[in-house]
Amino acid sequence: MESSTEKILITGALGQIGTELTNKLVNIYGKENIIVSGLDKADNSQTSAGFYERMDVTNTELVRRIIQEYKISTVYHLASLLSGTSEQQPLFAWKLNVEPLINFLEMAKEGLIQKIFWPSSIAVFGTGIPKENVGQNVILNPATVYGISKLAGEKWCEYFHHKFGVDVRSIRYPGLISWKTPAGGGTTDYAVEIFYKAIEEKKYTSFISENTAMPMLYMDDAIDATLQLMNAPKNHLSVHSSYNLGGMSFTPKQLADEIKKHIPDFEIRYNPDFRQAIADSWPASIDDSVAKKDWNLNYTFGISEMTEDMIKNLRMKLAIG
Ligand code: SER
Repeated sequence: MESSTEKILITGALGQIGTELTNKLVNIYGKENIIVSGLDKADNSQTSAGFYERMDVTNTELVRRIIQEYKISTVYHLASLLSGTSEQQPLFAWKLNVEPLINFLEMAKEGLIQKIFWPSSIAVFGTGIPKENVGQNVILNPATVYGISKLAGEKWCEYFHHKFGVDVRSIRYPGLISWKTPAGGGTTDYAVEIFYKAIEEKKYTSFISENTAMPMLYMDDAIDATLQLMNAPKNHLSVHSSYNLGGMSFTPKQLADEIKKHIPDFEIRYNPDFRQAIADSWPASIDDSVAKKDWNLNYTFGISEMTEDMIKNLRMKLAIG
């Protein structure tokens, strides 16, 4: 049984991962122990958590005040700008993706927080390595603003762990596919958009080319993996930068073929934009054997299970909404 003194803060809580992680943590710890934050003006009806705080994570004093006020023990720091948007606003991406993380690490060093989760990404990989089955310890040579910010963040996590014993845990998420909350500004987001368009219009123009494979993960598996990592005994963890996580790997064409099994007259076209270059610099598939060994990572959803679940749930959501 978890200690009832556990108090959890989730930043970026109204985002794609945050919404679903909040629901899960509320179920486990009770809503009175979950405090969530976002940039938007929102109220408690927009989240299942007990408390919503409008908070700009770059405002270090405000963040510190909230940590102290609620006596936060664990932080899931999800607020971030994704790959496509980061290319449009490089300096802001650096500020948002790196500085608040360092602020949380500092607070953990001071003993104000006991544990931190921070998402990294397959964007830390880059050119000069084979594209298939990319391992945990390859050379990291990111070619994007987002990848640079995530690599720097990983190194800060590792530094605070080695130097000050900070308990910070991280996953290199692949593209995340989900139906509850739309993603925003990512290169892998074609794999979410395609479902909305397939259901609403039976056609989609992909900004990623036909045969570009990228690693992807269904949100249910992403949330399970996150909690598995956070609950793993500390002495089982051998990676203190960020764990590789592979999920499945497919191309836009392969995904379109899966969708056609449910929507036979679905049509896909390809019109790659600037995000194609980002995708070209990323791995096609990932070796996540270290996470499997250290904390028993496993998956439930492959491409066909994921496609079936997405279509079923989105059809209901779009019919209601
Ligand atoms: N889904 C992210 C993006 O495309 C990758 O981490 O930006």
